[in-house]
Amino acid sequence: MLIKVTVLPGDGIGPEVTKQAVRVLEGLAAAFGHELTCTQKDIGGAALKSSKDPLPNDTLQACLSSGAVLLGAVGGPSFDSFPSHLRPESGLLRLRRELGVFANLRPATCYPSLEDCSPLRADIVKGTDILIVRELLGGIYYGEPRLIQGPTGDRSATDTMRYTEKEIERVARVAFELARSRRRNLVSVDKANVLDCSRLWRDVVTRISQDYVDVKTSHMYVDSAAMALVSHPADFDVVLTENMFGDILSDQAASVVGSLGMLGSASVGGPVGLYEPIHGSAPDIAGQNIANPVGAILSVAMLLRHSFKLKREASCVESSVAGVLAAGYRTRDVAKHGHGCLSTEEIGGKIAEAIRVAAACTENVAS
Ligand code: IPM
Ligand code: MN
Repeated sequence: MLIKVTVLPGDGIGPEVTKQAVRVLEGLAAAFGHELTCTQKDIGGAALKSSKDPLPNDTLQACLSSGAVLLGAVGGPSFDSFPSHLRPESGLLRLRRELGVFANLRPATCYPSLEDCSPLRADIVKGTDILIVRELLGGIYYGEPRLIQGPTGDRSATDTMRYTEKEIERVARVAFELARSRRRNLVSVDKANVLDCSRLWRDVVTRISQDYVDVKTSHMYVDSAAMALVSHPADFDVVLTENMFGDILSDQAASVVGSLGMLGSASVGGPVGLYEPIHGSAPDIAGQNIANPVGAILSVAMLLRHSFKLKREASCVESSVAGVLAAGYRTRDVAKHGHGCLSTEEIGGKIAEAIRVAAACTENVAS
């Protein structure tokens, strides 16, 4: 099979972690006999520097004509004073919209070997396996109007949270379908005691849930969900929520299961899927070869599964990551106290090697 991917390393630690993700993808393609083409393009701050546009047309066209997009991270402190349309983040938001990827899947799984890395007690995080389904193209991220107006000292700012029934319905269906492939338990998170958008959200999700009577559905306010996520995270299965709540709760869930560096994500719903670790550009540790590439590597697994329907290959990446972690190899963010840790490149190498070995075993079993 031809695996045609556009790679957007972006800013900060983006280039380092995507380099390891591509290395894993190359190893996997070779081991399973797939043809791979990776085209690298600029996005975010890197693109602003090279062409004064955080999403140059050349980058967008490459993405639209590939089978999937793998992205590192965007953003950095040097762009903080730029107007919003010239910030690195606006390139990513436009890319999501152009690709039509309205459903963002963010799995947060606690690996048994990492139970002691959580800031929470091991007995609380044990068994945590959450899939956050975040609506990605609506809400306050995209609503109009949005502006800052008035003279300094007397300015006001406006952002608009807006949702249509159709936007809620399409992401809800994705979440319910995924719940069917898991433990059939879905919590929809909103703030329906305050926001009209959330009242509409709850109304639509309730209606859709009638098509999925085999899925246990409940609703929670976002403040109470934030609390439940740290007091009994293992009780959650699928969490369905709007754009901004999903952004916040997924960072929290990542920290609960060990580290922000561990989570990959898939943004789907359009013709071309977008895959990115959920962490940001982490400028404080960029360029030091210490960032955790696991989130980027797990994004590759999701890319193989969702965009290319390569289930066996996706599982191979996931089990290789689990194996390397179980063997005690860690980057700094998840290292055990007093134990040595590996660099970004070293852990990438360990995972690539584990994939090579696993693929060879599969071949032997098959033949
Ligand atoms: C994420 C990031 C982005 C978001 C930023 C970089 C625009 O935080 O993917 O979670 O808020 O969606
Ligand atoms: Mn975020």
